[in-house]
Amino acid sequence: MTAAPQALDPSTGLDAPLLSVEGLHLSVRSNDTLIPIVRDVSFSIAQGECFALIGESGSGKTMIARALMRLLPPALLKIEGKIVFQGDDIASASANRMRSLRGSRIAMIFQEPMSSLNPLMTIGKQIDEAIVTHQNLPTSERAQLAAGLLSDVRFKDPERLMKMYPHELSGGMRQRVMIAMAVSNRPALLIADEPTTALDVSIQAEVMDILARLRLKYKISVLFISHDLSLVAQYADRVGVLYGGDMMEVTTTTDIVRSPRHPYSAALMNCIPRRRIDGRRQLGIEGTVPRLAAPMPGCRFSPRCPRRVDACDKGGIPMVDIEGASVRCLRPLA
Ligand SMILES: Nc1ncnc2c1ncn2[C@@H]1O[C@H](COP(=O)(O)OP(=O)(O)OP(=O)(O)O)[C@@H](O)[C@H]1O
Ligand code: SF4
Ligand SMILES: [Mg+2]
Repeated sequence: MTAAPQALDPSTGLDAPLLSVEGLHLSVRSNDTLIPIVRDVSFSIAQGECFALIGESGSGKTMIARALMRLLPPALLKIEGKIVFQGDDIASASANRMRSLRGSRIAMIFQEPMSSLNPLMTIGKQIDEAIVTHQNLPTSERAQLAAGLLSDVRFKDPERLMKMYPHELSGGMRQRVMIAMAVSNRPALLIADEPTTALDVSIQAEVMDILARLRLKYKISVLFISHDLSLVAQYADRVGVLYGGDMMEVTTTTDIVRSPRHPYSAALMNCIPRRRIDGRRQLGIEGTVPRLAAPMPGCRFSPRCPRRVDACDKGGIPMVDIEGASVRCLRPLA
């Protein structure tokens, strides 16, 4: 396999990404059988970069995020391959090491913030707990830090908010609280898994804007997982396109929008509303994603691919480099 294009560290210009995922395979253990859900996925994220993972529902985006945080025990999720984050191999790091990395160097926000907030605890107490777990600061400094974080996520009256309980907040306010907690220990990497999907459209833009500003302010790299291609086009620097657990293309956001190489990427791009408005023909994506457990000798996209030839079904398709993009296809688009 050819490695996916590496992200350079812009501060040094050296080939030293913050996170490097190489040949990642994930399998879920179920009733004594191993179900492969992600195969041979490689990508990297540079310091300060926003890298997006896109793909249809069930393509493995959340499982990759959980693997990066080691949120699932080995009894449920088998991780093979390399996940190197600031010198630590996450795939083989001890549980203790992961506890100290999680919430400090790597943080995550989820689609549904309520699932991560304690309904019985005030917002102030929850932010304080996030800080105290990783920073040895006196109470007054922690309170000051919490108030500053809540201002960062645009709460006008942080003192009042800190006395409130999660159920007193709207969905957008809860997600802003989650963002404040996630950045409380100045993580190097923030994983945002569909952070705006559960929110009203009017609130989505505000949450994305807050994330973008905090990313710049604190120089945080972001792994942005999203179905929303317009948001990805607007906020991400580079993108990885997943299909049925396979990484199909890794490239810059500019290139995926202007000249996608993989037929699946091209089909996805034709689903962006702006293209429809431009009057271009909408490809649409007929058919469904293959069941992950079903073995397929060749390209998993072949049943839906307009460019398919017999060779596509004969064996594994390698990643190849084409002008800065990394593409898993025998007949990529020019
Ligand atoms: N416990 C499990 N047992 C078997 N398969 C599982 C289990 N958990 C997840 N999967 C499978 O893993 C695959 C990847 O799921 P994942 O949640 O990562 O998809 P996703 O890309 O995040 O989708 P969505 O866009 O809907 O969030 C899915 O096909 C799912 O059915
Ligand atoms: S390998 Fe073949 S079937 Fe798969 S995307 Fe490329 S052309 Fe289509
Ligand atoms: Mg998901």
